[in-house]
Amino acid sequence: MSQYDAIILGAGAAGLFCAATAGQRGKCVLLLDHADQPGKKILISGGGRCNFTNLHTAPDRYISSNPHFAKSALSRYTAADFLALVESHGIAWHEKTLGQLFCDGSAKQIVAMLLDECAKGSVDLQCGEAISAVEHADGLYRVSYGDRTVQAPSLVIATGGPSIPKMGATGFAYDLARQFGLKVVQPRPALVPLTLTGEDALFRDLSGVSTEVVARCGKAAFREAALFTHRGLSGPAILQVSSYWQRGDTVTTQFLPDREEGWLKAAKRERPKTSLRKVLSEALPDRLAEALCERLGLSGDLGNLSDKALAAAEAKLARWSFVPSGSEGFAKAEVTAGGIDTAGLSSKTMEARKVPGLYAIGEAVDVTGWLGGYNFQWAWASARAAGLAI
Ligand code: FDA
Repeated sequence: MSQYDAIILGAGAAGLFCAATAGQRGKCVLLLDHADQPGKKILISGGGRCNFTNLHTAPDRYISSNPHFAKSALSRYTAADFLALVESHGIAWHEKTLGQLFCDGSAKQIVAMLLDECAKGSVDLQCGEAISAVEHADGLYRVSYGDRTVQAPSLVIATGGPSIPKMGATGFAYDLARQFGLKVVQPRPALVPLTLTGEDALFRDLSGVSTEVVARCGKAAFREAALFTHRGLSGPAILQVSSYWQRGDTVTTQFLPDREEGWLKAAKRERPKTSLRKVLSEALPDRLAEALCERLGLSGDLGNLSDKALAAAEAKLARWSFVPSGSEGFAKAEVTAGGIDTAGLSSKTMEARKVPGLYAIGEAVDVTGWLGGYNFQWAWASARAAGLAI
């Protein structure tokens, strides 16, 4: 039976970086993945350019049952640290918007960089075999895959969450965590399009129309683009609030977020012979302006509409509410919220408090970032914390 210092399950973002970190410290590391190649989600991330970190990374941009948990790891491995690594590999990058850093070229460069870092640490990477059993006895973890059984005093769970199952994503991390007595916070799809039915379904006719809004759900508010789809709502603003959305919650969108109170009455004074539809279509996509006017039930020139009706229209445009019927689920979710309960883990090392030698990192853990490179930064930071500890 082959013996290693650490066995890391899952060669995604977190597993690759953890293996590289531990390997470069002289640890003998085996990195296992059931997929035929490592880093598959990295390859499709950021539209193929990988939004690998965010300059504004801060703990308040992560959702977790324990909002303090991510602080330690994030402060010890920052966006600047990862950027320095990217630059040391000569990978050209750019900031797209809101601190989001992307490769100029391809996400393949990030996978190649991680594999290079693993090679520097002599990591033994094996892909394409299903893991059939994991056991723990006499201070050693035994992992069976294919026709082999290997063992090590440290085991790292880095198999991510179940979002996008067609890419090989599974809930394996949760089964394993439960096997070792760790609790799991109910996993749910996050950064996911929301679906509309009933009266709201009328908006599905606007499929393909996009506009900047402030989307809100509870206390969360995001100013970015919203996109109407044939099933409901998507676009960055909606994906962001979806991570906070629970069934039954209302999502509001503020159209024309820069307009000050009274703007429609002012437009009436200045251009009484202009229709509301025309005024809206000057600032919004035409099909959306038409649909909003129809639902507001206001037609004709502004001069013929009462100030009260215009004030009510303004208020409605500023807080247009939708009650989504659901989300598009794990099949379309960019990440999984919930996961291995942080209460059972050390925030410094990611080691299970009551199960020595067992670690959990990345998306498998109940820490979920905003859209925009935050999830990869958590993968790097948590992987680094564990990689330095094993
Ligand atoms: P990850 O999912 O990367 O890796 C888990 C690995 O475990 C996989 O290689 C999988 O094959 C393996 N595995 C699963 N079950 C197993 C089992 N039973 N046995 C063995 N191996 C198993 N984030 C971001 O910050 N910027 C971005 O641009 C994007 N873009 C993006 C686009 C799309 C389409 C998706 C789906 C997701 C993103 N993300 C993102 C999110 C990001 O991809 C995600 O948060 C990280 O990949 C999580 O890294 P992990 O290593 O934890 O899991």
